[in-house]
Formats: sequence, structure tokens, C-alpha cells
Amino acid sequence: MRLRVAGAVMLAAAAYYVYLPLPSGVSEPWKLMLLDSLFRSFMQASDIAHALGFCHRVHLLNRVVSWVEVVEARSSVTVHVTDSTLGGVPTRVFQPKEGRKLKRGVIYFHGGGWALASGKMRSYDLLCRKMSEDLDAVIMSVDYRLAPDAVFPDQYHDALAASRAFLSTEVLQRYSIDPERVCVSGDSAGGNLAAAAAQEFGSDESLEVKFKVQALIYPVLQALDFYTPSYQQNQAVPILYRPYMARFWLQYLGADAALEPLLLANNHSSLDQPAIGAVTRSRLNWTALLPAERRKHYQPVVREKGSPSVVSTVPGLTDVRASPLLAEQGVLGKTPKAYVMTCEFDVLRDDGLMYARRLQDAGVDVTSDHYDDGFHGCMVFANLPLMSSVGRRSMDGFIRWLDRNL
Ligand SMILES: *[C@@H]1O[C@H](CO)[C@@H](O)[C@H](O)[C@H]1NC(C)=O
Ligand SMILES: *[C@@H]1O[C@H](CO)[C@@H](O)[C@H](O)[C@H]1NC(C)=O
Repeated sequence: MRLRVAGAVMLAAAAYYVYLPLPSGVSEPWKLMLLDSLFRSFMQASDIAHALGFCHRVHLLNRVVSWVEVVEARSSVTVHVTDSTLGGVPTRVFQPKEGRKLKRGVIYFHGGGWALASGKMRSYDLLCRKMSEDLDAVIMSVDYRLAPDAVFPDQYHDALAASRAFLSTEVLQRYSIDPERVCVSGDSAGGNLAAAAAQEFGSDESLEVKFKVQALIYPVLQALDFYTPSYQQNQAVPILYRPYMARFWLQYLGADAALEPLLLANNHSSLDQPAIGAVTRSRLNWTALLPAERRKHYQPVVREKGSPSVVSTVPGLTDVRASPLLAEQGVLGKTPKAYVMTCEFDVLRDDGLMYARRLQDAGVDVTSDHYDDGFHGCMVFANLPLMSSVGRRSMDGFIRWLDRNL
């Protein structure tokens, strides 16, 4: 009897921990709740270890993730898989064993807030394998350096070094990649690096080989407004809660973590910030850039007075290499044909939607692929054990677009 009571209490406690009221319309809410409780428990355990001074929370998280998720480079019947380097940056390479002689090529940057994860994780390994098989393409999945050991602009420089090597005649020839059919892609923080690389190489007249397309999966693109309608609507939606994103940004920019409440109050983009002019503000003005069905009833949060010295202390906040949404129209106009995936239940939805709109205004051919039941990160949860339905659909949509446009 006592055992049964204890069992019931534990079950109730577990259900309480797992249960989370989710907005209606999100794909397979119970799966998302389970995923969220797993993430939350990892985050909480690493917060505790961090607070006790055992190690940095990110190191612990990455160790747990590698232990659970990292897989060896193992070739299959159809794809040859090796670990190599690209411009000095560790990279996993997926090459189809048969098919066309001259392949299409994709350089891919994984997500994880510039601090977590790896292209060697099972989920990314499976994604790249599938891309390689379905597209008969060479996929290069780059392991750029991570925060807190490396901070901006290290990740950005790694992304550029790997991309530059990828576009070199030597690498293209070695892997039999068609120079006319190369793509830069990534999800979340990797989408940020992909967008930044597309801008850098689009404007570089000295390059002989250019990216044909850019494919950005729920990218993070700006750090000045934490009150876009999607930040307001999805602040409590797993797995990327609003405060996590502020924390990732501060870590990426090498700034003091204590600035988190200030960022979450939009105090860093108050009107008394001398470094943020009207032109910069217009580039992320969502009242102008988002359609009414996404703006909904939300109101902008613009402070008259904030904490004026913060942008000079953290100059990365307005650096276009960290925030591709802040680029001028001329730079955007030189970037390649674009695919931008966004999810309704994602704080970063409006970063992606505003970017798609700005690219379009700059004359770029853009496909904006929006998932009404999608959540942040869904595409990498397409496989077992979660097998998210929207994950599967979004992955198929992404690969289908590449097949038609690359
Ligand atoms: C944003 O756009 C709206 C609508 O076009 C305009 O009224 C407002 O002045 C703009 N704000 C900024 C900061 O550019
Ligand atoms: C934001 O700025 C205002 C005005 O300077 C200040 O009163 C408030 O404490 C600041 N909030 C945070 C979280 O820093």
C-alpha cells in the first residue's frame, strides 16, 4: 500500500514536471512536452553544477549531449562519411557513392545558440545523410568553435574560413562538386552564420565561385528587439524560451550574463542609445515589415530611456556580422536566391519573416516556408525517438526546395 501511494505521488510529480500548457495548434503537444522536460532537466542540472562551481553549464550540457548523441562517421551502402577539416575547421563530409559525376554541394552549420551541439550529433548526421542521398549532393557539416570558449567573431570567422575553403577550386574538384550548384545553409544559430556568410560572399567581387542559393532554417538574426510579436507570443513555449535566447546572445557576444534582465526589458535599444539610429531601427521595424496576421494585437516595446552605455560595452549588439537583419539593402540585394523556414511557435519566427521580407524588398527571389504548427528546432527532431510530424514535414519541404532550386 505504502509503495502504491509513493508510486502514485511520484507519477503525479513526474506528470506535473512534464505537463505544460501549450498553445492550441502546436504539432503533437505531448511529444513537445516530453522533449521540453528532458531539455529543462538537463538545463536545470547544468545550472546547479554551474552555481556550485563544478564547471560551466555549457560544458556540462555539451558533455551530456555528446555522450547521448554523438555518433562515429560511419559510411552506409549509399553514402561515404568521413571526418575532415575545411579551412582548418573540423567538418563531417557526406559523399554519395554513386549517381551523377558532378555533384551539387551544401555547406551546413548546425544550431545550438553558438554554444551547444555538433554536426557529429545523431540528428544532424541523419539530416545530412538524407540530404546527401535525396539530392545526390556532397554535404559538409561544419563544427565551428563554440561559446563560452570562443565568442564572436570566432564562430563567424570559422564559418567564413570553412565557406571560403568549400568554394575553392581545390575542394570543389577534390569532391567533384559543380561550382554552379553550391548552397550555404544552417538552422537557428547556424542559420545566423549561413546568412552572415551569404552576405559576406555575395558582396565579395574577387570570388570566382558564388553560392547559388541560401537556405535558412528558423534563423536567429537580431538582438535589439526581444519584444517582436513572436517573442511576445512564444515567450513560454518550449524549447527555446525567451530568456534562453537573451542568454545565448550575451554568451555569443562575450558579454556579462548579468545583462540578461536589461536585454529582456529592451533597455539596450532604448531611444537614448546614440549608436542606434533611425536607419538601423527601420531595418527591424516589425510594424512595417510583418503582415497583420503575424503582428496580431501585439504592441512594440520601445523605451524612451534605458541603459545608454550598454551598446558601447557590447558593440556586437549592433554588428551586422552578428545580426544579419541589420544589413543595408544593397548588401542584401547581392545575396543569392533564398529559402527561409519559420515556425509559428518560435520566438525567432519574426527574425526570419522580417529577413525574408527585407530580402524580397532588395530584389532577391525568396521562398518563405512557414509551418503553422511548427516549434523552434522541429526539423532536427524528425527522427526517432521523437519522430515529430512537423519535423518530418519541414525536413521534406526543405529538401524538396533544394532539389528544385539548387
Ligand atoms: C515603423 O513603421 C511604422 C509604419 O510604417 C512607422 O509609423 C514608424 O514610424 C516606424 N518606426 C521606426 C522606428 O522606424
Ligand atoms: C531599464 O532602464 C530604466 C531607465 O533607465 C531603469 O529604471 C530600469 O531599472 C532598467 N531595467 C533594467 C532591467 O535594467
